[in-house]
Amino acid sequence: MKYLQKMLVLLSVVLLASTTAFAEVPSPKIPKGNAEQCVEPTQEMRVNHMEYILHQRDETVYKGVRTKQHSFKECINCHTVKDDAGKAVNFKDERHFCNSCHTYAAVKIDCFECHASTPTAKKDGKAHAGINSLIKMTAAESNNNE
Ligand code: HEC
Ligand code: HEC
Ligand code: HEC
Repeated sequence: MKYLQKMLVLLSVVLLASTTAFAEVPSPKIPKGNAEQCVEPTQEMRVNHMEYILHQRDETVYKGVRTKQHSFKECINCHTVKDDAGKAVNFKDERHFCNSCHTYAAVKIDCFECHASTPTAKKDGKAHAGINSLIKMTAAESNNNE
């Protein structure tokens, strides 16, 4: 039953995303990624993106395997949506790429409580903020000791 429900939600989003024929039904406006193509075919990502990132998380967090192809940071780096001032919007903004369908499909994800929802070129997101300040403290201490 759960499976059927999931397929129905996915189907309706995919259908609405790929057609503008539903004049009266508001369909999600999905911002385009900032490149020629996604890390997997678009159709595949529409339906299975969560499998890729959750798998990537397990590979990294539990097995220590860190590859770039399905990296969460890369998703955010390429799927940036800018506001009128040219600043990348974060997950609190309805225009954020990940919200474009989720708001519509009433999907809630907690990922951005820790992960950055805007591009992080060099700096890490909040997931690392705690440990980074520790590293800085330690570095400052050892500098003082010299
Ligand atoms: C290098 C740039 C790039 C990266 C990295 C990237 N994408 Fe994409 N993504 C794209 C492009 C371009 C499209 C196609 C948009 C289109 O065809 O309108 C796309 C399409 C998608 C779609 C379907 C959107 C739609 O229009 O239905 C989803 C969902 C998606 N990506 C999620 C992800 C996730 C999750 C990640 C990280 C694992 C990721 N992408 C990484 C560029 C990227
Ligand atoms: C093309 C529309 C679309 C886009 C764009 C999109 N999602 Fe989704 N996402 C969905 C749908 C629909 C579901 C619900 C599927 C289901 O019911 O299992 C979902 C589910 C998820 C889930 C699983 C949630 C759960 O509780 O099981 C995660 C994680 C997720 N998306 C992450 C992302 C991230 C991160 C982005 C932005 C990089 C993103 N999605 C962009 C349509 C989209
Ligand atoms: C409680 C904080 C927290 C939450 C919530 C959380 N993560 Fe993470 N995540 C981490 C930490 C810490 C790491 C390991 C450090 C790193 O690699 O950035 C990590 C690593 C990852 C990685 C591997 C590294 C990368 O950038 O690809 C992925 C993928 C990932 N998480 C996806 C998710 C997704 C998808 C969600 C939401 C369904 C989520 N995380 C929710 C803290 C969190």
